Amino acid sequence: MSYSSELQVAIKAARSAGKYLLGLGHKIVDSREGRDIKLRADRESEAIILAALEPTRLPVLAEESGEHGSRSGLRWIVDPIDGTMNYYRGLRDLCCVSIALWEDDRPVVGVVNRFAVDELYTGIVGEGAWCNETPLRTSTVKQINQAVFAGGFPVGLRLNEEMLPDFFRRILRFKKIRMLGTAALMSAFVGAGSIDVYSEDGVMLWDVAAGIAITRAAGGRFQAEPLDGFRYNVRCFANEILERLFLEG
Ligand code: IPD
Repeated sequence: MSYSSELQVAIKAARSAGKYLLGLGHKIVDSREGRDIKLRADRESEAIILAALEPTRLPVLAEESGEHGSRSGLRWIVDPIDGTMNYYRGLRDLCCVSIALWEDDRPVVGVVNRFAVDELYTGIVGEGAWCNETPLRTSTVKQINQAVFAGGFPVGLRLNEEMLPDFFRRILRFKKIRMLGTAALMSAFVGAGSIDVYSEDGVMLWDVAAGIAITRAAGGRFQAEPLDGFRYNVRCFANEILERLFLEG
């Protein structure tokens, strides 16, 4: 079954929200709890997306408003702004609108709109992935010491010094390390071939659902280990060899 009509719906929704965010004049902060920040723009962008997805009548899991409809089968997974702090602080080329379609725990379609630089990442698993019109493939790097790693510390993670030795052990083997503050873009960049391994523990599903779909559609691999709620330990790999080397530790 092809999901090209769902892809078109998601593209339209992501473009509408991106256009709105690009032109938005206000920077209203609705909450600043802990390490998180919620903008009025998150909710406004989500409302635009939900209205655009509505004609499909599929269930939705959305960052701001939660679950709409059933958990099983096909459902949209929406992050109205991924990289909210980047958006707020003016790092607008490092934030995006992220919309995915998953069937149960399987990614099907991903759309990531990096609206500030007019880059639209799309993918249908089994068919292909693109940045605007250009087809994407994951990188062919096969040695960890030549690979680029991206990751981060999600807002819900209780960071403490005991975690650091394990984190350092994992990342020090890489040639370069990047923390971009947007899980959706970092995971989509694995699909685009610009990052080789993305790994983040305790990230929310809506942060990575579209990037994972794009990585898969571009020939890469992923692991998503469920924790509580919608939190996951997530890894995206450009290829099987990097996956094996990374997991071997
Ligand atoms: C955040 C980003 C960040 C990740 C955080 C997320 P948001 O998403 O994806 O990379 O580390 O956990 O909350 O809050 O900007 O949608």
